[in-house]
Amino acid sequence: MKISFDSKAPKSDAFVAFATEGGKLLEGGKWADKKTNGALKRAMEAESFEGKKAQTLVIAGPEGLPHRHVVIVGLGKAEDLKETDFEKIGGTVVSLLNARKAASAELSFSSEGLALKHLDANEAASSMAAGAVLSSYRFDKYLTKEPKDKKPTVKALSFTVDHPQKAKKLFDEADTLIDGVYLTRDLVSETPNILYPASFADIIKSELVPLGVKVKTLGMKEIQKLGMGALEAVGQGSAREPKLVTMEYHGGSKKDKTICFVGKGVTFDTGGISLKPGAGMEDMKWDMAGAAAVTGLMYALAARGAKVNVVGVVALAENMPSGNACRPSDIVTSMSGQTIEILNTDAEGRLILCDALWYAQEEFKPTHIVDLATLTGAVIIALGHEYAGLFSNDDGLAQQLTLAGQGVGEELWRLPLNDAWDKAIDSPAADIKNISGGRDAGSAIGAHFLKRFIQPGVKWAHLDIAGVAWNNKDRTAAPKGASAFGVRLLDRFVAENFE
Ligand code: BES
Ligand code: MN
Ligand code: ZN
Repeated sequence: MKISFDSKAPKSDAFVAFATEGGKLLEGGKWADKKTNGALKRAMEAESFEGKKAQTLVIAGPEGLPHRHVVIVGLGKAEDLKETDFEKIGGTVVSLLNARKAASAELSFSSEGLALKHLDANEAASSMAAGAVLSSYRFDKYLTKEPKDKKPTVKALSFTVDHPQKAKKLFDEADTLIDGVYLTRDLVSETPNILYPASFADIIKSELVPLGVKVKTLGMKEIQKLGMGALEAVGQGSAREPKLVTMEYHGGSKKDKTICFVGKGVTFDTGGISLKPGAGMEDMKWDMAGAAAVTGLMYALAARGAKVNVVGVVALAENMPSGNACRPSDIVTSMSGQTIEILNTDAEGRLILCDALWYAQEEFKPTHIVDLATLTGAVIIALGHEYAGLFSNDDGLAQQLTLAGQGVGEELWRLPLNDAWDKAIDSPAADIKNISGGRDAGSAIGAHFLKRFIQPGVKWAHLDIAGVAWNNKDRTAAPKGASAFGVRLLDRFVAENFE
């Protein structure tokens, strides 16, 4: 989609005007109303259009204007509007235009008489554009026979704003981040016959190396040599060998601290010998959403030249049942030296992550680690699809992440850690077991397992994204399907706290 910012827009199919609460048209709307001899005001009156947030009204074939449609979009109360509201409005406009088969639109957004409080009009226009692009994502590479009239029509949006240069600069920054979001969505959407540990690692290399990121891939041999017995155990049941990929980006100075982001990348989770039921198992193709988010985040940070030192680490494995798969009751030794009794091979995410977390700390000595994982079904029971679960050993870090999430509309809800749950994973036969055996506090049990692999002094947060990685319905700035949850959140977290 082509986005432009102009003071005078090129010819387009639709003219989009905006109105605040009470049906007050902005400048562009007033102009169009005059041109059409009062058609906008008449339509607003006839349809009781009050300018409520995201309320829309369409006038087809207006007399006095060259456009096929005039669209009036409600903004609600100007002083309440935030970045995420404008993203939502951008998405709403695009879907309305697609439904009308429009190829292009002019969005008239001059700030005169518009009393925004949380952002200025250029930022608002840039956010609308970002929302339009984010909501237009499609994974359609395998649709070879899709009829043309099913394809989205919108190709170009031009925003007429007070300061086109300013708005364009803001949007260009947002657009780099959107490239990262799209990369993550492509990875999460890709099918497990095509995306498996080795091909995932290849994509990371081809996307990130050109941006100056140092990418290193460890295969089964190195995983064994380093003593990562937990990652090995999960990977050994698959014909496709596991990989551990590190992505180093040095945008800060030598003495700046290092932040690590660690992602769960189970390219398909059958459950292994503790096999999952068949119904719905296809969802487990996106059990690598944490690793995909780390990849997209590293892309975004490197592409915008973020002034920080960040390392992404992803553990990639396919969890399969086979003659070589690990069994419930196996005891393995993790890289940390701690022995793990595997009682359920379907609790595999924590197994691959414990070695990735340990490796990240040993190798890069970070002050902060944030891991992302589609770790537990239990987090969906607790928080549904509106929040990701957040666990942390540091209140400040938890607060920083929560605020960043609110800013971008990727919300986190902090859940507690408790010594009783730590005790619940003591094993009589090994240092730790990978499930508690009960159904209580399932997400916290997973978090406590990971916590045992965090070294003293390291600030750590775990984001359980099982409920938010894949949207079952269209949402603000994300259509049905892969959300790329975490990319925008962590980009904001880095920008607000480390740059
Ligand atoms: N990948 C799943 C968690 C999951 C479930 C993600 C639904 C997305 C949607 C994870 O590996 C898993 O199987 N977890 C088990 C843990 C249990 C065995 C302790 C679960 O949640 O049932
Ligand atoms: Mn599992
Ligand atoms: Zn899993």
